Amino acid sequence: MAKLTVRDLEVTGKRVFLRVDYNVPMEEKGGRMVINDDTRIRETLPTLKLLLEKGGRLVLAAHLGRPDGKREASLSLKPVSEKLAELLGRPVQFVDQCVGEKAEAAANALKDGELLLLENVRFHAEEEENDPVFSAQLARLADVYVNDAFGAAHRAHASTCGVARILSAWGGRCAAGLLMERELKFLGDELEEPARPFVVILGGAKVSDKIKVIDRLLEKANTILIGGAMAYTFKLAHGNQTGKSLVEPEHIHTALDAESKAKELKVQFLIPSDNVVAELKDTGKLNKKGKPVFEPVNPRVNTAADIPADCEGFDIGPETAKRYAEVIAGAKTILWNGPMGMFEDPRFGEGTLAVAKAVAAATANGAKSIIGGGDSVKAINKAKLGSQVTFMSTGGGASLEFLEGTPLPGVSCLDER
Ligand code: 3PG
Repeated sequence: MAKLTVRDLEVTGKRVFLRVDYNVPMEEKGGRMVINDDTRIRETLPTLKLLLEKGGRLVLAAHLGRPDGKREASLSLKPVSEKLAELLGRPVQFVDQCVGEKAEAAANALKDGELLLLENVRFHAEEEENDPVFSAQLARLADVYVNDAFGAAHRAHASTCGVARILSAWGGRCAAGLLMERELKFLGDELEEPARPFVVILGGAKVSDKIKVIDRLLEKANTILIGGAMAYTFKLAHGNQTGKSLVEPEHIHTALDAESKAKELKVQFLIPSDNVVAELKDTGKLNKKGKPVFEPVNPRVNTAADIPADCEGFDIGPETAKRYAEVIAGAKTILWNGPMGMFEDPRFGEGTLAVAKAVAAATANGAKSIIGGGDSVKAINKAKLGSQVTFMSTGGGASLEFLEGTPLPGVSCLDER
């Protein structure tokens, strides 16, 4: 069912509570918090511009980090308001509260086509508790609700759904922003009846994290390509030695069930035939949890079915990368979620890079490529291929849950068209 969107909304003279996902990576430089990647801010600009043009009075709400209900200076949204003003080319008022008299006065003083950004909603524990009183305080700031925060839509929090329920009960409409609409289109509608062959590339650390998505996509895909550390649990399930690789022995049955379901449904299901492995050297250092830190040394390609006892697998090998690239070249629809290895380290980034290049090349040949957020987006961006794929999700956990078919609270609370 299609959700109501900002295109359908009448907002002239109305206060719009606009939930955005401005949970951007930041770091301290010279005593100031600096934004390292403003993609999530840029992605909301079309929604903001449309609502401002329509004469809306925008009250933006967002979270930053996980301050656990306490005010934390390094997690203030003030630097985000400055970046937003720069990107939007107009003033953005920042209010250092998100509820209460000051916030209400600022929201009520807005004129048509003006906007403000509230302070981090997670400075209040009631946000994550989806507290009804806190939700009502947020609702007092607005007449209608718009959710453009796809990345936070899997959270049942006050600003992602509680406030919408209350505004709706008070007669206000609840709509999706343009970014939210695009996310639902590409991760949802476009994958309902995909052009075939439909190739799904799945990576990441654990089978247990991806099993629901594997299960659901087995119903739709023609081919599933497995990479990342989760491939080692499949190897283990086949009776091979996995050395010091990350494995989940308790999920051997999960891996085998997925493979037999694939066989039943005639879905081609491929796991790596070679890997880049490395020995682990004790650095003598301890991590934050007091555990010894090991460093991968002597990286090499392992073509044997077994991984040597003193080695850990860190990437798919060149033969696998070639095989996967050939499959991807024939695809008409591609969905990619999760890197093929520890791509942040260039010694283990070749497999992920080869897949990224293959996805970009297939897209240039007319395939639709959808990148399911999180680390796969980082990998595509690292390869500077972001502009050569059809769609990159801004969600991490949210895209995974959505792909699993789990209803997202931040979407369910929006009105149907
Ligand atoms: C994200 O960065 O994935 C979203 O903003 C959600 O953040 P959270 O995992 O802290 O809820």
